[in-house]
Amino acid sequence: MKINTKPFLDQKPGTNGLRKKSKIFMQKNYLENYLQSIFDSIGKKQGETIIIGGDGRFFNEKAINIAIKMAIANGFSKILVAQNGLLSTPAASNLIRIKGAKGGLIFSASHNVGGKNGDFGVKYNIANGGPAPEILTDKIFLRTREIDRYFIADCADFDLQNLRKIQLSEVEIEIIDSIRDYALLMEKLFDFNKIAKFFANGFNMCFDAMNAVNGPYAKYILEEMVGAKKNTVKNAIPLEDFGGLHPDPNLIYAKELYDLMMAENAPDFGAATDGDGDRNLIIGKNCFVTPPDSLAILAANLHLIKGYKAGIRGIARSMPTSMAADRVAEFLGVEIYETPTGWKFFGNLLDGGKISICGEESFGTGSDHVREKDGLWAVLAWLNILAVKRQSVKEIVTEHWQKFGRNYYTRHDYEEIAKDKAEKLIENLEKKLNSLKGQQFAGLEVALADNFAYQDPIDGSISENQGFRILFANGARIIVRKSGTGTIGATIRIYIEHYEPPTGKLFLNTQYVLEKMINIAKEIVEIEKITDRKAPDIIT
Ligand code: G1P
Ligand code: ZN
Repeated sequence: MKINTKPFLDQKPGTNGLRKKSKIFMQKNYLENYLQSIFDSIGKKQGETIIIGGDGRFFNEKAINIAIKMAIANGFSKILVAQNGLLSTPAASNLIRIKGAKGGLIFSASHNVGGKNGDFGVKYNIANGGPAPEILTDKIFLRTREIDRYFIADCADFDLQNLRKIQLSEVEIEIIDSIRDYALLMEKLFDFNKIAKFFANGFNMCFDAMNAVNGPYAKYILEEMVGAKKNTVKNAIPLEDFGGLHPDPNLIYAKELYDLMMAENAPDFGAATDGDGDRNLIIGKNCFVTPPDSLAILAANLHLIKGYKAGIRGIARSMPTSMAADRVAEFLGVEIYETPTGWKFFGNLLDGGKISICGEESFGTGSDHVREKDGLWAVLAWLNILAVKRQSVKEIVTEHWQKFGRNYYTRHDYEEIAKDKAEKLIENLEKKLNSLKGQQFAGLEVALADNFAYQDPIDGSISENQGFRILFANGARIIVRKSGTGTIGATIRIYIEHYEPPTGKLFLNTQYVLEKMINIAKEIVEIEKITDRKAPDIIT
């Protein structure tokens, strides 16, 4: 038992757990105090199992050892630790579920940079395999304000390399293969034989694991199980600092893959996943698939896949995600749910059997097989659909638009805005919101303008202030919200969308089509005026 009396968190951990610079986590007693605050908030440990792993970033093994020793001292009966400490977020979610664990600790800062000067993070997932709900994170946070002791076993560090069971009086610690169970789940859902035949017939792909946790998972599943060519998986070895890469699979940080896929001799299919393996990027030969389109296309075709052949129950998308999936839901006659940003809002819908597939515009897609978004799942789902339809990505996307219409879509991020300016912007917009309805902008009428609130259909809880929605009579939308994950200043995200029906112009350049809406957004939000910015920092 050690003592530390200082409250040590400046603010509530976000929906993705606690994320800070690695150096902050490495301060004396810091991680210990946070882990103890978790353990003090989750109730009984006796007779319970906990899963422990991380995405392999700097400080991963050290943190895992601290967590094992603290789980021992806090009275867990079984501690399952991923071999080499490597456990992707979706694989952790699966392990928690299939092992009947009380919960799991995932050491990751997702797609944030790693290394000594990078970021580190701790996330606690609950028994359904999903992120801790707010009621629990609030409890943990309150506990951090008063924590004055923690419990830790006094023993040597554990070797995480060799699979084995260790019995230490009352507690069993097991170093487990963290890939096997996940691979088995994928094999149950997808038709590996069909995908293997597709590869054998010459289909080729490139997968960028971004020197992050999914490298070994992708190598095993793609190259060993479904017969993709050797070296299909690039940057396959998880590195402490991701080899200096920013492990966020978007068009900026996965530029090498993007350039390869846009080249004349591009492979048929390209994909990437992030630091902890939950985000995905899908690119066909000369054809980037936006995440909202990917969600809609997967939803429309999921019944072609073995594990989903009964069809889907419903679809959910986060509010800023384009409405492409809504049209698929309408066609299929299933419910569409519009939830606030963040995967945790899908949890109840999945547990309650309301939806089979869900996604966010921020490169997150998943289904009811786990309670996290799942990067490799999305890649395999695409592969399975491609193998069944025997079409190129471009053909599938084209046909989809011709059937459902196209939701042209872009996201503009303004980063590191001074907090007072960001507040002013939000206040300004809030004030004019009520008067927007019925107003015309460049000939387009505002049909609805509100501050998005969500009532969970399962537990009835209400989440307010989830971003501004400005909907136009022609189906276009402007969404404005403040990021909940930015670390410096405030990040404002503006999402712009225009719907073009099947009979309309489907093959134009996105930024060109959206120019008018972008200008309307600037006029309404006044972002460049209030923040003195000339342009967004990132356009996706
Ligand atoms: C961002 C994404 C959001 C995602 C979250 C965690 O949050 O926009 O969709 O759930 O990261 O990966 P934001 O910074 O916008 O609050
Ligand atoms: Zn992630």
